[in-house]
Amino acid sequence: MSLKDVMKDFDGYEEIRDEIAVLRKYGIDHTPKRGEVEKILEVLHPKKLHVKVSEIIDETASTKTFRLVPAQGWLPPFQAGQYINLVVETGGIITSRDYSISSSPTETAFYDITVRQVEDGFVSDFLLGSTKVGDEFESSSPAGNFFHNPLFHGNDLVFLAGGSGITPFMSMIREAAFRNLDRRIHLFYGSRSDDDVIFEQEIETICSRHKNISWTKVISDPLQGYRGRTGFITADLMKSVLSDLSGRMFYLCGPEAMYTFCRNELSKAGIPSRKVRIEMYGPPKDVTKQAGWPAGIGSDSLMTVRIKGGGSIRVRATEPLMNSLERSGITIPALCRSGECSLCRTKLISGKVFQPEGARIRKSDRMFGYIHPCLAYPLSDLEILVP
Ligand SMILES: Cc1cc2nc3c(=O)[nH]c(=O)nc-3n(C[C@H](O)[C@H](O)[C@H](O)COP(=O)(O)OP(=O)(O)OC[C@H]3O[C@@H](n4cnc5c(N)ncnc54)[C@H](O)[C@@H]3O)c2cc1C
Ligand code: FES
Repeated sequence: MSLKDVMKDFDGYEEIRDEIAVLRKYGIDHTPKRGEVEKILEVLHPKKLHVKVSEIIDETASTKTFRLVPAQGWLPPFQAGQYINLVVETGGIITSRDYSISSSPTETAFYDITVRQVEDGFVSDFLLGSTKVGDEFESSSPAGNFFHNPLFHGNDLVFLAGGSGITPFMSMIREAAFRNLDRRIHLFYGSRSDDDVIFEQEIETICSRHKNISWTKVISDPLQGYRGRTGFITADLMKSVLSDLSGRMFYLCGPEAMYTFCRNELSKAGIPSRKVRIEMYGPPKDVTKQAGWPAGIGSDSLMTVRIKGGGSIRVRATEPLMNSLERSGITIPALCRSGECSLCRTKLISGKVFQPEGARIRKSDRMFGYIHPCLAYPLSDLEILVP
């Protein structure tokens, strides 16, 4: 079979070939300029950055902001709401985690990332416990689609933040304030206790100076004597504060439990899903609670993963495959660590994995047996080909 015959098997091959023929006849031939856009993109948006911690700011008892400046070159521009994938080496293990940039894109000399301590956390533990001013890291360029697009999202925005999920919103709020943007923003910010609220003073100051920016603080687990608003971000609360919810764009970012709760409340309030934008904060805390997880497999279930051409390892069924591989010294390319970007796509030669809702597997990947190890859990022994 010739290469041409093989190509015919690809969906859309004939249509693309016909389109190229039309362009050749009537369009402009851009072939001599091939590669020029990539060269400009590489300058504006390099794949890897080398950053240095220039300052560490205590935000709350469990949260710190790390100010990152370039260790080499400069920092590319970003859209408020985007994140970087920070590579960390600790205890001989190379791994990475995503952190939304909390500073405004108008600050071009640094990126701030604001990290909260996670119970039984690995990287958050390392960053909060061991990182010092002057430490250097590798990271991705800013990435992600959780940003405001005035063409599609309008100018009437409602932010629903929970805990450290405030960070992308802080960047958006700071930008709107610094640039005096003609944008109406209301932030609902849920925290466990009053001491946990990050950036409170700054949010207050911005709201007092910009009539188009306002906020509602909600505390779910108040200390005795707390006099502010308590509970969760409910449909009733949103309606009572904003009266009319129609025509607004809702952005949601926070811990897993909050997503489920707030998505429910938004649909109760009649908000269509096209009016809701969501930032996932990584894999689920307990995958066994996800819809479709098979009965009988738990945190003590171990599987063998054979790596084609490279030995085998024992892994926990309830840990994302990517984490288990990293634990064994095998690092694969990663960016979103939430199953969305496809960067980690890996060939599954044999075996079965669980990929929860949120893993965006392309049709072609499903057809040819590719998985996203950042959000794939082994349900049987596996053989994989690492990229
Ligand atoms: C787009 C995006 C933006 C985010 N922005 C922020 C933000 O602004 N602020 C913030 O605080 N968080 C943010 N997060 C969450 C952040 O990426 C991390 O998930 C969070 O800091 C917790 O990381 P952790 O390693 O401490 O805990 P987990 O990610 O829960 O890590 C614990 C896991 O690490 C693995 N592990 C444990 N020990 C080892 C070991 N020895 N070797 C290898 N693996 C091990 C295990 O799988 C364990 O389950 C964001 C996430 C996403 C996806
Ligand atoms: S790192 Fe993005 S899909 Fe796995």
